[in-house]
Amino acid sequence: MTDVPATDVQATAETSTDSLTVRDNRTGQSYDLAITDNTIKAADLGQIRLGDEGPGLATYDPGFVNTASCRSAVTYIDGEKGILEYRGYPIEQLAEKSNFLEVAYLLIHGTLPSKAEYDSWVHEITYHTFVHENVKSFMEGFRYDAHPMGMLMASVGALSTFYPDARNIHDAENRHLQMVRMIAKMPTLGAWSFRHAQGKPFVYPDNDLSYTANFLSMLFKMSEQKFEADERLVKALDVLFILHADHEQNASTNAVRSVGSTQVDPYSAVAAGVGALFGPLHGGANEAVLRMLRRIGSKSEIPAFIEGVKNGNEKLMGFGHRVYKNYDPRATIIKKACDDVFEVNPLLEIAQELEKIALEDEYFVKRKLYPNVDFYSGLIYEAFQFPPEMFTVLFAIGRTPGWLAQWLELVQDKEQKIARPKQIYTGDRTLDFVPASERWA
Ligand code: CMC
Repeated sequence: MTDVPATDVQATAETSTDSLTVRDNRTGQSYDLAITDNTIKAADLGQIRLGDEGPGLATYDPGFVNTASCRSAVTYIDGEKGILEYRGYPIEQLAEKSNFLEVAYLLIHGTLPSKAEYDSWVHEITYHTFVHENVKSFMEGFRYDAHPMGMLMASVGALSTFYPDARNIHDAENRHLQMVRMIAKMPTLGAWSFRHAQGKPFVYPDNDLSYTANFLSMLFKMSEQKFEADERLVKALDVLFILHADHEQNASTNAVRSVGSTQVDPYSAVAAGVGALFGPLHGGANEAVLRMLRRIGSKSEIPAFIEGVKNGNEKLMGFGHRVYKNYDPRATIIKKACDDVFEVNPLLEIAQELEKIALEDEYFVKRKLYPNVDFYSGLIYEAFQFPPEMFTVLFAIGRTPGWLAQWLELVQDKEQKIARPKQIYTGDRTLDFVPASERWA
């Protein structure tokens, strides 16, 4: 290989202060890469090669720890400061002063609705809450003990077969209709997944009720003419939906975007999001927190449990976050709600003590591990008599507008391409195949 003088700069950017100069010590060659929005384009690294042939330089980033996959104007997070904003509005203000359907409108449309826009949005969502009767028979076909998240994932995916028009993702009106349908039908599918596990008949939507009150009716109504949910519960659940409504490029949103990048219909993309959310490292953590607290059993067992975590035996579920290196602002709101809901609750006392001990322990301090949204949400859900299997379903209903807002942004973004990461191949090459008849002889 011929030596290239170290000063030879192959400019990809106008040499300006908004650039990064990279020197490849294998060749001595330098490159200027443009910096935009504090990022470099990974594709710009492709020009850095050892010779004329072979692949260009790439980045290796399992789990996208330091890779931006899109530009997004939906949700802003400052993980160091513990800030979360939807379309620029602080989560604390939305949780206190808005409601879930207004927040859903905000996430999807980018601005707050006028009175007429809000009324029309609520009307549309309310009148799409019913599902085709065949969805009901489909859901009845699950085993008696099917996990409601598995049922939700399958039934959201199944909606794509009921609405084949949803494949027309390039038509704005069509996209709007599918988003309305999905936000409207998620509570119906979620509630029916719950009723199935209980062996109880499915309850049809009651369109006289608000979004959240109707969901509670479909969950808990029995023989009464009309189900009247406790207003405090309706309000609390609505706030929990708001807190979960979006969280920028988290694992499930990334799944929605990744599947959506193939230009498949939004039901299939959201089904992928539900699957990702099911995992215990993501939305399934709230269920895992409650099981963990039960297993710890009493405050006196906390030190031994913490030792086990520090020795790597298990994780302190509900702690830690890829982005937050501070208290998750959603956890602050939920913790306060816990104080309002519970007078005495042994599990809450264990959780509070566990948090106190962990926040003073060097292991957690050094790694900046704080309670996340899931640490206290399970306790609230349990207080409202939801079984743990339902916790992640509640998360999924809340997250649906966020998934859809991100999906909408994706399909309108000219820079987006089919998601297709690179790999570093570590396997064998050019082996000679020996047929089974010879290998086994
Ligand atoms: N308990 C004990 N140690 C932990 C925990 C925890 N909960 N979380 C992270 N660590 C340690 C981890 O072992 C690592 O230590 P070391 O540097 O010695 O190897 C260090 O902290 C950094 O962790 P990481 O796994 O590299 O961080 P990550 O960004 O890849 O993972 C996470 C983020 C949320 C998956 C992780 O913190 C975790 O597994 N937490 C428990 C599950 C949980 O509560 N998930 C809900 C997340 S919030 C809601 C949502 O988005 O769904």
